[in-house]
Amino acid sequence: SPTVKVGSDIAREFRQYEHRYPMLSLANTYNFDELRDFDARLRKVVTGPVEYVCELKFDGASISITYINGLMTTALTRGDGTRGDDVSANIRTISTIPVVVKAPNLPDEFIVRGEILMPRAVFRRINEERSKEGLNLFANPRNAAAGTLKTLDPSIVASRNLECIFYFLLGESLPFRTHYKNLILASMWGFSTDSHTEVCSNIGEVIEYINKWDTKREELPYDTDGVVIKVNSIDQQIEAGYTAKSPRWAIAYKYKAEQALTRLLSVSYQVGRTGTVTPVANLD
Ligand code: IVH
Repeated sequence: SPTVKVGSDIAREFRQYEHRYPMLSLANTYNFDELRDFDARLRKVVTGPVEYVCELKFDGASISITYINGLMTTALTRGDGTRGDDVSANIRTISTIPVVVKAPNLPDEFIVRGEILMPRAVFRRINEERSKEGLNLFANPRNAAAGTLKTLDPSIVASRNLECIFYFLLGESLPFRTHYKNLILASMWGFSTDSHTEVCSNIGEVIEYINKWDTKREELPYDTDGVVIKVNSIDQQIEAGYTAKSPRWAIAYKYKAEQALTRLLSVSYQVGRTGTVTPVANLD
């Protein structure tokens, strides 16, 4: 059980550790012309045809977890990209993240990276509870997930039903030379990966993927804000290299912010158990 896994000593400050590989961000693009430029730039610098992996861009809090001899050692937040907070005690309470990995030919050391997410339904439930108790509401599932990760009491984290989708496997001795095969390997080792990830053999297929998910993503239990496009071949990733901030072999296509016009019907004031008054906008 999560509480047994974390033991009873709680409320320690987080320690910071350096990331073995810096946690870079992604360059963003908002239109298909820029995406075609990205493809053209890449094809000039790498050898051979370029295959892309399209992944949904999950809107949560990123995490980087190191395993040594199959055991979870540290789980670091992104922090400033160079150093992150060690939130291992909290991560151990998320039942879908393996603490021990057993598999044939497991590398002595590897790192998995992913996004910690709060399903929209859980977010709504928690905000309803918080509203009844007169507590501040979380603005969105991403803030709720990020805030929960930084909670000092792991039993609170355990109660919040966080999930994690992994999108990256890193290490010195990985058996495969493509990102996609490494993702499949990570899922065979017990990490949740996204089943909607697809390999595309040209930028036209990438654009089809983006169009398909523009509306379909509303059916998913989590918030997504775009698509991440990555070069599949690790040798080509090395050829393309990095800028100071982001890899040249990947880009994020961001969907237009979800906006809608509605009418403010009334404002009511909820009085919580402790006397806090929370104004609530009632929308059409
Ligand atoms: S790859 C070097 N893949 O988006 C590549 N990131 O600025 C690093 N994110 O903070 C990231 N879904 O937490 C990657 N499928 C995905 C992702 C993803 C969400 C987040 C990630 C990072 C930000 C990129």
